[in-house]
Amino acid sequence: MSARFVPPHPPRGAGPVPVWRGFFGERARTAVYGWSEAAFTQTYMRRRVMGFNVHIPTDPDLVQHVLLDNVANYEKPALTKSLLGPVIGRGLLTSDGSLWREQRRIVAGTFVPAAADAMVPIFARTAAERATAWTGRGRIDAATEATATTMAIISESLFAGDPRLTSPVASAHIAAALEAFSGVRLQALLGLPRIPLTPRGWAGRRGQIYLRATLTQVVRDRGRDPASERDDFLGRLLADLHARFEPAEAEALAVDNAATFYLAGHETTANAITWTLFLLSEQEEWQDRLAGEARAALGQGADDPHPPDRLPLLRRVLEETLRLYPSAPRMDRQAVAADRLGDETVAPGDIVSIWPWLLHRHKMLWDDPDAFDPDRFAPERKAERHRFQYIPFGAGPRTCVGARFATAEALTILAHWLARWRFRPVQGHVVTASGMVTLRPAGGLPLRVEPRPA
Ligand code: HEM
Repeated sequence: MSARFVPPHPPRGAGPVPVWRGFFGERARTAVYGWSEAAFTQTYMRRRVMGFNVHIPTDPDLVQHVLLDNVANYEKPALTKSLLGPVIGRGLLTSDGSLWREQRRIVAGTFVPAAADAMVPIFARTAAERATAWTGRGRIDAATEATATTMAIISESLFAGDPRLTSPVASAHIAAALEAFSGVRLQALLGLPRIPLTPRGWAGRRGQIYLRATLTQVVRDRGRDPASERDDFLGRLLADLHARFEPAEAEALAVDNAATFYLAGHETTANAITWTLFLLSEQEEWQDRLAGEARAALGQGADDPHPPDRLPLLRRVLEETLRLYPSAPRMDRQAVAADRLGDETVAPGDIVSIWPWLLHRHKMLWDDPDAFDPDRFAPERKAERHRFQYIPFGAGPRTCVGARFATAEALTILAHWLARWRFRPVQGHVVTASGMVTLRPAGGLPLRVEPRPA
């Protein structure tokens, strides 16, 4: 419908980028920085990083092999576990084998489609409340607004709205904890002790300690208060874990999973919302069209759980946003036993790094891959794609357990905001990607907002 729009992406050189670049400068701070043009045309790359063989398959068949066909051979890397361990321990995201299976079974019961749909009124209320403060402001930081909203939602929907998880102090600590992963990752790769080396590193350490201590307290308070055996996420998680594990192990895993869901469950969705608002702020025509769709979809009252089903156009835009700016731009695995990846040999201990960032913009897989074109996701075009070329939520048995929750949440929040507000870019502000674990706009996303006429 509109003119072709190519949103910014990091510069790409012609030739391969040397491995040492990954340790210095922007490449060390931003996962998606420093890829060459060639990376978006090849089907497989191999790197040698600090003693590890790293395989980077960008052929969807090879990705399918790792994430589905031979999934038992590919675990979460020891390095990932040791990096994320201080925050999320041995929870669902960082465990393997029978411990993972047991936890996935427990959690899957909570994340059934009907449960995500039942949350829609919470999503709607929280989004509307947050936006009331925009009146008269003229300008917002969309990243801050999206994060505050998804943080309030995760605390409300999974932790019964515990205020300890939504305060501005909690928010600052969590942002610092996530920010610090990049620095610690480098130290881990270089084999250095994980002592924070910078003020940002220390802020991250304090953030991790705050988060763990607070969640431990939240879990213990629940355990002490029999009246709080509530039928919510935390209540069910605690009951199920206690039914299967010794008390100390059950409590430890409850804290690990509380931290896992708290972190995995809000920052990713906030980034998806933020990038969508960025793309729409640059394209007024799309914004007007979506505002019309949103107004029609939201007309049924505050408790209506169905708006996400009535937003087909916004859903396409969200899917296209997650293609261009996948909240999780990479996911790593480590081979348990020897294997073959196409023509290549994988040795035990090798890393296989799967990059939605590369797959989603691959020149052999997509037409005009860097351009914004939501119509790629028209339902009738689904057959044009390989199942493993578009994987913003991962794929196979370890696919994101919160995908439906996140999609319903992002659609509902965006619909409420787009129905009532118009978003415009701030002149002179240049948007660039940042982040080693999740992909977000560097320094936030300032936008001009004004009420949309009725
Ligand atoms: C747009 C939002 C989201 C995106 C893009 C996203 C992306 C992902 C990806 C790519 C994975 C797979 C990682 C891998 O295979 O290594 C994953 C796993 C996971 N996600 Fe999400 N996620 C989102 C929202 C959520 C939400 C809302 C929750 C919880 C409420 C959540 C909880 C999890 C958990 C617990 C796992 C680990 C699953 C397992 O290993 O069995 N995510 N997510």
